Amino acid sequence: MEHYKLFINGELVDAQDGKTFESIDPGTEQPIATVAQAGQADAEAAIAAARTAFDSGVWSGLAPTERLAKMQDFADQIAQQGLRLAAMESMDAGQIVNLAKVMPLLGIGFMRNISLYGATKFPWEEEILASGNVFGPGREYIRREPIGVCVGIIPWNFPMLMAFWKIAPALIMGNTVVLKPASYTPLTALIIAEAAKAAGIPPGVVNVIAGPGGEVGTTLCTHPDVDKIAFTGSTEVGRAIMKMASDTVKKVTLELGGKSANIILDDADLDLAVEGATYGTFLHQGQVCESGTRVLVSSKIYDKFIDKFKQRAEALRVGYQMDPNSHIGPLVSAQQLATVEGYVKLGKEEGAEFITGGKRVEVEGIQGGYYYAPTIFANVDNKMRIAQEEIFGPVVCVIKFTDDEEAIAIANDSIYGLGGGVFSTNTARAERIARGVHTGTMWINNYHIFSDFCPFGGYKQSGVGRELGAAGLHEYTQIKRVHVNYQADTHTNFNFALLRDDKKIAGFQYNCPTSVVAGHGALSSIYKEVPNLHCRRALILTDPGVRKAGLVDLAKNALADFCVGVYDQVPADPDLESVDAATEAAHQLEADCIVSVGGGSVIDTAKGVCVTLKNGGKANDHLNLLVLTEPQTPHIAIPTTAGTGSEVTNIAVLTSTGAGRKLFIADTHIVPNIAILDPRFTMTLPKDLTVTTAMDAMTHAIEALMSIMSNQICDGQALHAIRLINDNLPLVVADGKHEGARLNMQIAATMAGWAFSIAQVGLAHGMAHTVGTLHHVPHGAACGIVLPKVMRFNVDYAVDKLALVAQALGADTADMNERDAALAAADAVEALMKKVGHPMRLRDVGVEEDDLPICAFHAIADTADLFNARPVSDPNEVLELYKQAY
Ligand SMILES: NC(=O)c1ccc[n+]([C@@H]2O[C@H](COP(=O)([O-])OP(=O)(O)OC[C@H]3O[C@@H](n4cnc5c(N)ncnc54)[C@H](O)[C@@H]3O)[C@@H](O)[C@H]2O)c1
Repeated sequence: MEHYKLFINGELVDAQDGKTFESIDPGTEQPIATVAQAGQADAEAAIAAARTAFDSGVWSGLAPTERLAKMQDFADQIAQQGLRLAAMESMDAGQIVNLAKVMPLLGIGFMRNISLYGATKFPWEEEILASGNVFGPGREYIRREPIGVCVGIIPWNFPMLMAFWKIAPALIMGNTVVLKPASYTPLTALIIAEAAKAAGIPPGVVNVIAGPGGEVGTTLCTHPDVDKIAFTGSTEVGRAIMKMASDTVKKVTLELGGKSANIILDDADLDLAVEGATYGTFLHQGQVCESGTRVLVSSKIYDKFIDKFKQRAEALRVGYQMDPNSHIGPLVSAQQLATVEGYVKLGKEEGAEFITGGKRVEVEGIQGGYYYAPTIFANVDNKMRIAQEEIFGPVVCVIKFTDDEEAIAIANDSIYGLGGGVFSTNTARAERIARGVHTGTMWINNYHIFSDFCPFGGYKQSGVGRELGAAGLHEYTQIKRVHVNYQADTHTNFNFALLRDDKKIAGFQYNCPTSVVAGHGALSSIYKEVPNLHCRRALILTDPGVRKAGLVDLAKNALADFCVGVYDQVPADPDLESVDAATEAAHQLEADCIVSVGGGSVIDTAKGVCVTLKNGGKANDHLNLLVLTEPQTPHIAIPTTAGTGSEVTNIAVLTSTGAGRKLFIADTHIVPNIAILDPRFTMTLPKDLTVTTAMDAMTHAIEALMSIMSNQICDGQALHAIRLINDNLPLVVADGKHEGARLNMQIAATMAGWAFSIAQVGLAHGMAHTVGTLHHVPHGAACGIVLPKVMRFNVDYAVDKLALVAQALGADTADMNERDAALAAADAVEALMKKVGHPMRLRDVGVEEDDLPICAFHAIADTADLFNARPVSDPNEVLELYKQAY
C-alpha cells in the first residue's frame, strides 16, 4: 500500500508523533493508502514555514510574471501526474471515473488561466484620478498586495479541484498556503504537493497537511500567524470557523452549503428539463454543494415531469466508481450514508410523497461500499426539513408551484443561496426569474457549469466572498491606498492648518487655462475658434435681457453656419433645473459646443450644461468639487456684464432648490476654453447693473487678496483689477458707450476672476450668496454692500494686503500706520460705491431686518468662509456684520 506524507517547508515528512491513518475506498471499504496524520505540532510547523516564506519575500517579493513562470512549471508537474490524480481521486472520493478523469484537466486549466490573468490582467495598481478630497491634493493610487499566510480547508466531495481552487489564486497573488484536505480524501492534495516540490516552488510557499479537522483545524483557524482562511464545506463548520477566526480577526472566505432551487417552467423543453434535474441533483451522488436539490415544477407540467424524472432516476446505474459504466458511485463514508438514510426516513415521516429510490444498493461482485439509490420525493412542502436542510446525497425534493412569483418565493424561502437553475424556452422569462432569486449563481437551461473567470459563492448562509475569476483573486489581496502629498510643505497643508494659528497657505498651483481674446472686434475670432475646438455645432446660450439688447444677433452673425440654435431662457441666478432645460435643448440640437453670451448667470449655466452634456444624468448629479478627470464639452464664453469673471473661472454657482442654497461645480475642467472680451457686449449694460456687477469683480479681487490661499500671481491680478475698476467704473457710469473704459472693466473682471479662481474668496461671498438665495438680492449688489464691513472685520488678519488695496484705490496713506491704511481701504471702497451710485445698505435692496439672523446661520456654512483671512465660526459675529450692512 502506498504511503503518503505531509508536505511542510518543501519536504515530504511524516507526522512529528509518527501517527498515520488509512484512507478508504468508499466503493469497497478497503484501505488504499496510509497517510501521515498531522497533529497540532505539524500544523504549527506548516504555519511557521508559510509565515517565514511569506515574510522573506521569496515568493511575495517576486513580480507577478515571475510567479506566473513558476506556476506554469507547477502546472506542468501536475500534468505529469494526471492519470494518477484521476485514479486516486476516483478511488479516494468515490467519484465515478468518467468524472474524475476530467478533474486534472479542469484543475490544471484553472491554474494556468487564473495565473495568467492574475499576472497580466489583474489591476495590481490603480491611479485614483479624482481623489474626492479637495483639501489633500496629491497623487492617489491603490496597490493590491498579498494578504500573507492563507489556510485552505477543503471538503471531501471534490478534493482535487478544491485543492486547485485554494492553491492557485492564493499563490499567483503572492500569498503562501497551508492546505488541509478532508481526512476522508487526502490523497490528491498530497500528490499536488509532490508536484510543487518537483516544480521548485520555494520551501514553505505551499504546505499540505492531512489530519482530523477537530485538532488541526482549530490550530489553523486560531493561530495568530495565519492571515486568511478560505474554507469550503458545511455551513455548520463554516460558522465555527468564522467564530474561531474572529479572535485574531482573520480574513475569511466561506463557500458553504446550499439547498438550491432548480425551477422548471411550464414552457420548458421537458426532456431537457428532466435531464437538467437529473444531472443537477444526482451528479456525484448529490454530494455537490450547489446541487439543485429542490426541483420546483410548474403545476401545469407536474405530472408529466414526475413520470419522466422517475424513469430517468431509475435508469441511472449505481456501481463501482472505477467501472466506466457506472453513473452513480458510492457515498463518501458510512457516516454520510447514515445521514442520507436518516433524511429519507424523515421525508416519509413528514408526509412527502415517496416516488423512487430510498434504499441502499448492493453492487454485484463487491462486498460493502456505501451505495444508495437515487431518491425522489414529490409533493414536498417547502417547510419540511427535507426541503430546508442540506442532505448532501442523492435525494431530491420536487415542489409544485403555480406561477413564476410563487416559484421565486419558494426558491428564496431558504437560509441558503448558492446555486439554482431555470428551465424555460423563454429566455427573457427565465432571466427575470434568475434576477429574483437570492443566490450566487443561476444557470438557465443548464446546471453545474463553472467557469474559471466567473465568480462562485453564496448569498445568505451559503457563504462569504467569492472564488474564481477576478472577484476570487481580489479575495487574496488587500488594498493599500497611497497618498503622496502634492506639495510637501508645512505651510501649504490646508488640513495641518486646522491645528495652527497661522492659517495662511503658502504654496499654490496656478491653473487657469482659458485662452482670452480681447479688444474691439475680438468677436470675429469665434469663427476660427469653433473649428479649432474640433466643433461644428455651436449652441448659443443666453438670457432674455441679453437677447433684447441685441447681442445674440451679433454672436450669431459671427458664428455663421456654426450656430445650430439659440437657447435664451436662462434665468438670473440659475438653478439646477435651468441647467437641465438648457442641456435638453443642446441634446435636441446635437450641439457639440456651447457659446455663452451673458453675465455670470448665463456663463455658469453653460458650464453646468457642458458637464451634464458630457457626463449624462442631471445637473444635480455633478455638483461637486474637483472630481472631473477629463475635458468637458467645449465652451466659448462672451461676458456681457462688468463683473463675475466666470468666463475664466473654475466654478459654476448654481442654486439648488433641494438644498435651499447656492452650490457649486468647481473644477479646472469647467473653465471655458475661450473667453472673448469684446466691449461691444457690455456697452448696452444699464448703469445699475454696471455698478453692481463691477462691485462683484471688486469683491473677487479684494477677497482673493485677503484669502488664506492668496499668492503672488493672484495678488498681482487682483491689485491691477482694483486699479482698473477704480479708474474706469466712474467713466462707464458717466458714459456707458465709453468703449475703452468698457474694455478695461471687462479685463478687470477677468483678472479678478483669475485671482479668485485660485486664491478663493471669503466671508463677503458667503454673506452675499445667502442674501442672494434667500432674498433675491443681485449677487454684485450684495457683495458690494457687505464688502467694506468684512474688510474691517478682517483688518488684523490681512493688514498688509488691505493697505495695498488702499493704495490701488488711490487713498492717500502716506502718513498712516499699516492698520489705518488697511482701514482706509474699506473707506475707499465705500467712497467709490457712493460715487457711482451703488446701493449702500441691505435695506435698500429689499432685505428685512428680521431676515438677518437666519441669513447669519446660512452664511456661516458657506464654503467661501473657509478661506477667509479671519476664521469664521461664530454666527453672532456674522449677524453683527449683517446688521452693520443693514
Ligand atoms: N462662476 C463664477 O465665477 C461666478 C462669480 C461670481 C458670480 N457668479 C454668479 O453669477 C451670477 C450673476 O451674474 P451677473 O452679475 O453677471 O448677472 P446676470 O448674468 O444675472 O445678469 C443680470 C442681468 O443683466 C442683464 N444683462 C447682462 N448683460 C447685459 C447687457 N450687456 N446689456 C443689457 N442687459 C444685460 C441680463 O439679462 C440679466 O437680466 C450669480 O448667479 C452669481 O452667483 C459666478
